Amino acid sequence: MKKLLSKKLRGYTFLVLAILLISGVVLFPVVTNYYVLLAVLVIEFIVLLLVISYFYDKYIKPVEKVAKTMDKLLQGNYNARVNQSMEGTIGEVSSKVNALARNLSELTISEQIQAEQLTTVIENSESGLVLIDEKGYIHVVNRKFLSMFGKTPQDYVGHIYYDVLESEQIHHTVQETFLYEKHVKHLFSVDKNGEKVYLEIVGAPIFNERNMLKGAVLVVYDITEFKLLEVMRKDFVANVSHELKTPITSIRGFSETLLDGAQEDPETRNQFLKIIFDESKRIQLLINDLLILSNLEKDESKIHVEDILSDAIVADIRPLIEQHAKRKEIEVEFPEDMALAFSADEEKVKQVLINLLSNAISYTPEQGKVSLSISDEEDRIGFHISDTGIGISQDAVPRIFERFYRVDKARSRNTGGTGLGLAIVKHIVELHDGEIKVDSELGKGTTFSIYFPKEQR
Ligand SMILES: Nc1ncnc2c1ncn2[C@@H]1O[C@H](COP(=O)(O)OP(=O)(O)O)[C@@H](O)[C@H]1O
Ligand SMILES: [Mg+2]
Repeated sequence: MKKLLSKKLRGYTFLVLAILLISGVVLFPVVTNYYVLLAVLVIEFIVLLLVISYFYDKYIKPVEKVAKTMDKLLQGNYNARVNQSMEGTIGEVSSKVNALARNLSELTISEQIQAEQLTTVIENSESGLVLIDEKGYIHVVNRKFLSMFGKTPQDYVGHIYYDVLESEQIHHTVQETFLYEKHVKHLFSVDKNGEKVYLEIVGAPIFNERNMLKGAVLVVYDITEFKLLEVMRKDFVANVSHELKTPITSIRGFSETLLDGAQEDPETRNQFLKIIFDESKRIQLLINDLLILSNLEKDESKIHVEDILSDAIVADIRPLIEQHAKRKEIEVEFPEDMALAFSADEEKVKQVLINLLSNAISYTPEQGKVSLSISDEEDRIGFHISDTGIGISQDAVPRIFERFYRVDKARSRNTGGTGLGLAIVKHIVELHDGEIKVDSELGKGTTFSIYFPKEQR
């Protein structure tokens, strides 16, 4: 800038000297008195200076100011403005430059906001994202991707995809996306900390406005949960079919034998009919429990909360349990005069207690003892079902709430169990935001404790 100024200054000095020289040469033959000539030249010099400085101030300086501001704008400083108020055309130019600068800075602010929003979306996406350019270089990897495959952004960004992405499946996906220029989808699994993780990867080509391939986006979804659900569903269907198969085979076998002539013998007939009746009862129980479970699992399944009293519930289930216990000569102890108020789904709470007390009776040898007690725990109510039965081993405890899991299959079948009782209990307790605790010792007995919040939210 200084250089420019001194150059201009030199230019003006030359101009003034040249004008002075020319006027000196022109005036020299005309004016004989040198003093007069000198005075004229001095006056001319002063006038010239005044004129130049007037024009400089009025026209050159403002243009320079505007030019300087534009320089700054060009360098990317969109906060630069022409601060001087000016008149005439140059005033108009400067106010337009200011308007332009304002637009530019507004534009960059909104661009920044958009870029930030985009980064936020990419970074917080629940899917892993990778952006690859048309040459195969990685430009972006998001947080989710790093959490799936490890390493840091620096290990990926700026590298060619096949050098840094280990999975062959990812390589195929990228290659196919580039080759077919279409969406490509693959499923694969990786081992992560010894656990199998199922992933779905989608490659999507990116085109520019001239429809030329500019790269690809890879989206990686963790579908392990869905996969496990699918496995569970398949297992469940297989289990149900298996559970139904046994009684149906037996019904079919015995009825066939009856039809083939066994009905002639009254004793055999009665015996077989009893088996057919028992097996059909088993099917009915199973279907009943399946319906209860499927109702509990429905998304819209809600609990019908009402204010209830613990003693009313106990009074309702008592006859059924006593009848069951009497057959095995088991003594059942019920809580005396324990009327605690809480809000819950009455029918479902009864179902929980019936399932647990039935189990306690089923898995306790004859002449054993079963007891139900109730405790008041500030904001919760506790039901404790204890027995002096066979107990459950520690490693089986976490599994007994799984559908169709039984410690001893034959024993469970003999007691008429469906293998779904505890799965139903767990479901109901979870719907109430409650808690289940199991305390058991093999050969000594088991206590199931169920806690329901007194108030339902
Ligand atoms: N009180 C208990 N004592 C010992 N084992 C029990 C008790 N309650 C449940 N179990 C075990 O948990 C398994 C699952 O129980 P449940 O879901 O009610 O099915 P089941 O129809 O077999 O009774 C039972 O098969 C049994 O092995
Ligand atoms: Mg049971």
